[in-house]
Amino acid sequence: MSIKIPAGLTDLLQGFTVEVLRKQPVDLVEFAVQYFTKLRASQKVPFGNERSGSGAFRATKAVNFADEPMQTDSENGEEEDDDDDEEFEAPVINRFTRRVSVCAESFNPDEEEEDTEPRVIHPKTDEQRRRLQEACKDILLFKNLDQEQMFQLLDAMFEMLVKVDEHVIDQGDDGDNFYVIERGTYDIFVNLDGLQRCVGTYDNRGSFGELALMYNTPRAATIIATSNGALWGLDRATFRRIIVKNNAKKRRLYEEFVQSLPLLKSLELGERMKVVDVFGTKIYKDGECIIAQGDKADCFYIVESGEVRITMKHKAKPDADGGMEIARCSRGQYFGELALVANQPRAASAYAVGNVKCLVMDVQAFERLLGPCMDIMKRNIANYEEQLVDLFGTNMDLTDPSV
Ligand code: CMP
Ligand code: CMP
Repeated sequence: MSIKIPAGLTDLLQGFTVEVLRKQPVDLVEFAVQYFTKLRASQKVPFGNERSGSGAFRATKAVNFADEPMQTDSENGEEEDDDDDEEFEAPVINRFTRRVSVCAESFNPDEEEEDTEPRVIHPKTDEQRRRLQEACKDILLFKNLDQEQMFQLLDAMFEMLVKVDEHVIDQGDDGDNFYVIERGTYDIFVNLDGLQRCVGTYDNRGSFGELALMYNTPRAATIIATSNGALWGLDRATFRRIIVKNNAKKRRLYEEFVQSLPLLKSLELGERMKVVDVFGTKIYKDGECIIAQGDKADCFYIVESGEVRITMKHKAKPDADGGMEIARCSRGQYFGELALVANQPRAASAYAVGNVKCLVMDVQAFERLLGPCMDIMKRNIANYEEQLVDLFGTNMDLTDPSV
């Protein structure tokens, strides 16, 4: 006897299963009732625009169909604000369909934009999703997002292979996507007074392309691949809906704290708010190593709460197990600037004392935004050197990489 599987059954069950795995409901039956009730409500809209003729139900958040075109999830039973009853034609958004112009778009980070855009979903295999999660785990801009926002971001991201010498971004263009690096090296060029200057590199990690999307400005730099590589792109609309909205919240939360920081006093208010836009918050448990002496450096830290112990191993005190304590940093103080300023490995280690929360900024944002604060930092580095003479009895030039 042959059993005929009704059209749409596989998609229907797959969509439901994915939602169960994502939401992990306690009461499965109750969740199923709500899911299918909502799905039935969404079926009441006319299906004239439906792209696939595969049956009554389209695939919802089917994460395992690697080659499917991008979908929106307007009828997948998710808790959506206002677009449950709409049928969307899937927009084709990729790096080749550059936006015509963004200049007319207004930007006020204090005003939350309306969430009317269709959700973007690029289905992924389990293996792609694992690689994507790995690439995104240290992305600072994603650090303050809640779980649902994070799911939406991951759903919307798409994989892109890049060839050596390819221009991923050209300075002056409109911003189409934000990019997270999975692998590959990339040079950053900025045109200064008509001269292309390489101002930095990305080495198999990090992200770029956020500025044009956050501030509706032309691309501020050119990014060229210096090896074959792979990136994860995130379309402009999803970036703005999630990250820009979240930044408005971050600005409200951190405005006062950032105004109170002596380090940032040479910055204008607008520049300080840009600092808030780009940092991520990280939490460390008691005793956790935040920075290890000798490591390559790519971040700068400001303590939001708790205390950080700075220790240094030095040949003058070889018996100090784990290094000698040389400083403590508490709320409002910063650390991790020295290696970035001097372009050398970490001069000391940093450990959490109790639970610690830090604002963390990547080296590219540090260099771009904190130039005006350099005098204060350099004076402080001179203080470190004096302090080390007292502790170890030897002179040290902390900005000399050979020391
Ligand atoms: P965006 O302007 O959208 O596109 C170019 C990207 O280069 C920019 O966002 C940043 O993410 C990145 N970038 C890295 N360093 C710099 C820099 N010094 N100036 C401008 N952009 C930079
Ligand atoms: P960095 O070298 O990037 O990482 C370790 C950090 O410890 C260093 O930057 C400084 O921010 C901080 N630090 C505090 N006191 C000292 C000191 N006396 N010498 C060197 N680093 C110090």
